[in-house]
Amino acid sequence: MMKNIILFGKPGAGKGTQAVLLRDAFQLVHISTGDLFRYNIGNNTSLGALAKSYMDQGDLVPDEVTIKMLEAEVDANPDAGGFIFDGFPRTAKQAEALDEFLHCKDMNVHATIGLEVDEEVLIKRLLNRGKDSGRADDQDEEKIRNRFEEYNNKTAPLINYYKAQNKFHSITGVGTVTEISEQLIALLDSL
Ligand code: AP5
Ligand code: MG
Repeated sequence: MMKNIILFGKPGAGKGTQAVLLRDAFQLVHISTGDLFRYNIGNNTSLGALAKSYMDQGDLVPDEVTIKMLEAEVDANPDAGGFIFDGFPRTAKQAEALDEFLHCKDMNVHATIGLEVDEEVLIKRLLNRGKDSGRADDQDEEKIRNRFEEYNNKTAPLINYYKAQNKFHSITGVGTVTEISEQLIALLDSL
């Protein structure tokens, strides 16, 4: 059975960390839009330059370019047994575009899982990572708070979008990486 999973969660909740473990456990292709943007920034592409002007402030990159990039990455993996989407969708427009795009390919979103962590815990995690991540958006509390604001205003409403389709689940993102991944795997196995 093809599983397309969306990992949801505030900045620093552990999406990237857990996505890699789920990728290996279920033989999925991991797509992180944040990693794709950072790859483009590292390679000095025009997409990278555009994305950087938003990312450095902790603002979302415009839907149009983000959706196009995501679709190209799915198309680049025609033999995938399923995808784990990390950091996409982040707006209603992105969620609708993803549904439409997958339906055209006879696929769908199997499940959406939110990792729940309090903002104060996340600020500590991100400032700590910022010491050596080189990520401008990890460097100060104000930018981190702006990322939370973007999440709360534009991404959190998607929870209801997926709840209406009976596809939303959530687990705690606090604990050891292994404890959390065991819970995620058990949840996905039960679906
Ligand atoms: P993106 O790269 O997606 O970043 P983010 O959502 O802000 O979150 P992070 O990647 O920082 O955190 P994460 O949840 O992956 O946690 P991680 O595993 O790294 O997006 C960056 C930017 O790109 C956005 O602000 C936007 O500008 C743009 N963008 C991306 N997608 C977009 C979209 N769809 N639309 C528009 N714009 C988009 O863990 C975080 C830290 O915590 C690490 O140091 C890790 O080691 C640590 N950690 C992990 N698990 C635990 C644990 N259990 N306990 C303690 N520490 C832990
Ligand atoms: Mg990440």
